[in-house]
Amino acid sequence: MPQAYRASILHFLADPGTAKNARALAETYEYFADGLLLVDRGVVQAVGNAETLLPKLDKTVPVTVYENALLTPGFIDTHIHYPQTEMIAAHGEQLLEWLQSYTYPIESKFNDHCYASGIAERFLDELLRCGTTSALVFGTVHPQSVDAFFEACEQRDLRMICGKVMMDRNAPEYLTDTAESGYSESRALIHKWHNRGRLRYAVTPRFAPTSTGEQLSRAGELLQEFPDVYLHTHLAENPQEIDWVKQLFPEAEDYLDVYERAGLLGKRSVFAHCLHLGEREWQRLGATDSRIAFCPTSNLFLGSGLFPFSRARQQGIRVGLGTDVGGGSSFSILQTLNEAYKVLQLRGETLTPLQGFYLATLGGARVLDMDDVVGSFRPGREADFVVLDKACTPLLEFRMQQCRDLNEELFVLAMLGDDRAVRATYANGRLVHRRDLSDADLEP
Ligand code: GUN
Ligand code: ZN
Repeated sequence: MPQAYRASILHFLADPGTAKNARALAETYEYFADGLLLVDRGVVQAVGNAETLLPKLDKTVPVTVYENALLTPGFIDTHIHYPQTEMIAAHGEQLLEWLQSYTYPIESKFNDHCYASGIAERFLDELLRCGTTSALVFGTVHPQSVDAFFEACEQRDLRMICGKVMMDRNAPEYLTDTAESGYSESRALIHKWHNRGRLRYAVTPRFAPTSTGEQLSRAGELLQEFPDVYLHTHLAENPQEIDWVKQLFPEAEDYLDVYERAGLLGKRSVFAHCLHLGEREWQRLGATDSRIAFCPTSNLFLGSGLFPFSRARQQGIRVGLGTDVGGGSSFSILQTLNEAYKVLQLRGETLTPLQGFYLATLGGARVLDMDDVVGSFRPGREADFVVLDKACTPLLEFRMQQCRDLNEELFVLAMLGDDRAVRATYANGRLVHRRDLSDADLEP
């Protein structure tokens, strides 16, 4: 049954950051002040000006009108930990102490499938409230944490990527696997979940300090066996972490080399953080077409550092936004844009409003190598989208009235917006979150 949605509509066709002049920039996106998005059976059929499309529309097609709203593709979070939902906003530590004090103890609870299911539901509720429709997600070391997560995603028909953590040293015994069990359990999960509906698997060694070289090599074997699965890990987040990696892997040239020796680099590999890299590492990330998740709220919250965005761009590396909850302090990609902007201000760089919304949508999809299915409203894409309310708070409404153009509106939305700005979220054409109604009103 076709459905149409009328609002202001913005989506990207290319990266505005690479445009050399105003004309090229204008070709990287489409904006319809009074737009119409036509969806049938979860798939985008057309997008354009309402004035042009409405007369061609069959009169039986229902049109949902969203006043004073901006409709964009659903947000994409390229790095987040669902088990850490319950310990977001834990006070006072930097990375290595934070892991010991808060993270590992709560991750132990995910050996219980039922407990994991409860947190997965709450996590997905929160993502959708924030307008995020796809994410690259850490589970815990327990295979049942991944089962619980994918079951919950499948029920809501979400496009998600997740994996079981591999961790065979330097962590509490209750949270470790072995090189062999990490390999075989991951392999079984790949068989069970990878490419099932909208779900994809990511081989997920936590970070170099908690894996032996043998375990990382087994992770590399999985990537050889299943070339279209993802690799998801952390890289160069914190100075103490980097010193530790040097001690643990004296034979490696640098941190990235630990992963490269195990065969973990490539276009389906996403490295979170990348705050303190050397020249060689930047070049190798670029040469292998590996991807980066920029996690500003986490990098500030854990005092880890300021991401050198322009250095990554200069190398031609694809960068997406990650919330990194619970190291990150918000589920909201709008709030993440807010802090990304401030991080770049401190570095003497900038993030334009268009570049920000590109990163939140098509840019994220390109990092996850899924821009052929989500991230824009090109016909044939899956209809994952978000309806942003330009009057969600008195201040936002008032400030919006002063805006003279799209750029100003986008910037104000990113700086002042959060979950309150998300009026509705759709996944595969279905309403999955509506701010002003209860769950009972959602489509079955
Ligand atoms: N490095 C290793 N594990 C983690 C984690 O859970 N969160 C963050 N931010 N960094 C990590
Ligand atoms: Zn993380």
